[in-house]
Amino acid sequence: MNVGRRAFIGLVASGSALLHGGAGDARTRASARSGGRPPGRFALGTCLEMHHVESDPRLAGIVGARFAEVTPEYSLQWSSFEPAEGRCRFGQVDRLVAFARARGQAVHGHALLWEQGTPGWGTPDWVKARLADAPDWALVRRRFETVLGRYGTAIPAWTVVNEAIETGDRADGLRANAFLRAFGPGYIPAAFETAAELAPGARLMLNEYGLEYANPVDAARRRAALALVESLRRRGVRIDAFGIQGHLDLGKGRIDARGLARFLAELAGLGVEIRVTELDVQERDLALPLAERDRRVADETARFLDVVLDQPAVTGVTTWGVSDRFSWLRGDYDAIRADPGPGTAFNRGLPYDAACAPKPMADAIARALDRRVAGL
Ligand code: XIL
Repeated sequence: MNVGRRAFIGLVASGSALLHGGAGDARTRASARSGGRPPGRFALGTCLEMHHVESDPRLAGIVGARFAEVTPEYSLQWSSFEPAEGRCRFGQVDRLVAFARARGQAVHGHALLWEQGTPGWGTPDWVKARLADAPDWALVRRRFETVLGRYGTAIPAWTVVNEAIETGDRADGLRANAFLRAFGPGYIPAAFETAAELAPGARLMLNEYGLEYANPVDAARRRAALALVESLRRRGVRIDAFGIQGHLDLGKGRIDARGLARFLAELAGLGVEIRVTELDVQERDLALPLAERDRRVADETARFLDVVLDQPAVTGVTTWGVSDRFSWLRGDYDAIRADPGPGTAFNRGLPYDAACAPKPMADAIARALDRRVAGL
């Protein structure tokens, strides 16, 4: 545990050096072994909300010291950012950008468009009503102008479309969300083109979940995601990166190591950079002894990272939170705030527990990243 923990801290420090061009050991090692391939891109990230770090100094310390990149957890979602037309909440995002800048961290913007993947989140009702009434791309364009106009430079990487796949909806595997219903499948290339026009220097990403496991649905989702990236490429639409969310689930059976590796290789073959964007683990048996639960979470993390970090096109891993205290998988923020204790009745699917002590999952991440950095 101690060795792993040291590795986690050390690795993240070197991850930071990799990202920002400091002269860390890992960076030196990486460039020596890569025969001139530019080092400096691999990043360990986490999502973050400012009111969480402001309410918990331990969390702020860990994020500042150990992560090279931060993603707003939900304050950039259209539903949180502009809950009523024209009333944009810049404050949380402005503070997050300042927090990251003060710590030399990169920021990933998430997400320009997202509807229906997690019902009730992503797109506010007023937008859905307007789109259903009279589809007008100007409404979407205004969102992109507002967000990218303010943050397009400070935030150099964006999830342009989030969760576009739903294999149960249509033959082409695209999710029949409010944007597809309004504009047809062309909303996806249009979103990437609009983003490329308004933030020409940014890394533009498609982000998707449900790609990891050995079952027919995940396999179909992998095929649909590949077909989508391929079709964007064929049309000459700029898409720079593919985000594999990595919401692992101990109730979903076996991770399909071969299917996943093949999927990542095919994506890489299409020339997109790949990132793990939302790593966490859903537990299914909270009655097991704590040590056993934490071991299962760590083992699942290791099985997943062993596959994805083997693929050179994967250039970063972001965990969907730091501490179990603020994990969306607990689904009950009020209880969390009231009881930040050991919280054994709650999901423990992030690297640090509710009191911000590292768990075996942190060791698993450290070991996987150490291996990756050493092997670059
Ligand atoms: C989640 C946030 O973590 C929650 O706080 C919010 O309730 C819903 O959204 N896929 C995504 C993320 O791309 O934006 C989602 O985040 C989790 C699923």
